[in-house]
Order: sequence, then structure tokens, then C-alpha cells
Amino acid sequence: MEQAQKIQAIIERFPQDRSYLIRVLLAIQEELRHVPDWALAAAAKHLLITTEQALEIAKRRKGIRLIVPGKYIVKVCIGASCQLEGTDYLVEAIKRSTRVGFDATTEDGVFTIENMDCVHLCGTGPIIDWNGKCCSYITREVWEKVAQDPDAFDQDSVK
Ligand code: FES
Repeated sequence: MEQAQKIQAIIERFPQDRSYLIRVLLAIQEELRHVPDWALAAAAKHLLITTEQALEIAKRRKGIRLIVPGKYIVKVCIGASCQLEGTDYLVEAIKRSTRVGFDATTEDGVFTIENMDCVHLCGTGPIIDWNGKCCSYITREVWEKVAQDPDAFDQDSVK
């Protein structure tokens, strides 16, 4: 099935009610790893709202990704416990090595950097989510090695 048709089928699983917007967008994102403009417009049309209204809500909702993601989506926990374990140093190192901040994708398409709330692995921080898998003890030093060769990153080695 063509991608647009597949997305349309996903959208049409939901009632034509604007209150389903976030659920529709999350379902699209699950399929495409982000919500492209054309899919946002299709969702808005189905839910009987304007694309601008849908965009406004999507921009304010944490967890909806509107940018094209990189190969690796790295979410950094910004919860209080991870902060105590050195998240600030980690974020600094990430920004230095990738040259992007949160909610951005590197020019080479390797990383998308995001932040996330506590995932209840407190005490084993700093925590990152690496393409959907949580990894503990990601210190600045660990990140610097990962950034040099992300394809070689063994997520199990840091648990
Ligand atoms: S504060 Fe990071 S896992 Fe709880």
C-alpha cells in the first residue's frame, strides 16, 4: 500500500471528532517516526478542523515530532533525579558534538535530540532514550564515545 493511503487508513480508524487529534497524530508518528505536513493536513481534514488549528495544537504537545527525524532519536531525561546525576553536563556534551539543541536534527541526519520527562529509572541517570530504548548511566564521557561512532553504540553495555 502506498504510504499516503496507509496513513489515510490509519486516520480513518478514528471518529471525525477534533478531540482525537493527538491520538491520530501519535498513530501517524508511530508509522512514520514523525508527522509530516501532508499527514497533518490529512488528519485535520478528517477531524474537521483547519490545518493551522491542528498545527498549533501539535506544536504545543510534547511528544509530537514535526521535524524529519535522524537515524537515531535521542531523548534526554530532564527529570530532577537525572539532573542531580549530571544531565546538564550530558546536554552540554550533546550540544557540542551534534551542534544542535533540543527538537532538532543534525545536518547529516544522524541524530535528533529531544528531551523527555522522568521515565522512572531514577538513580541510574543520566538516562537517555535511544530509538525507543532507555539507557542508564549516560555520562558526558559515555556520550562522547557514542557520538564518535553511533552505529557501534551497544545500548546493553551501559545498563
Ligand atoms: S529523573 Fe530521569 S529517570 Fe527519573
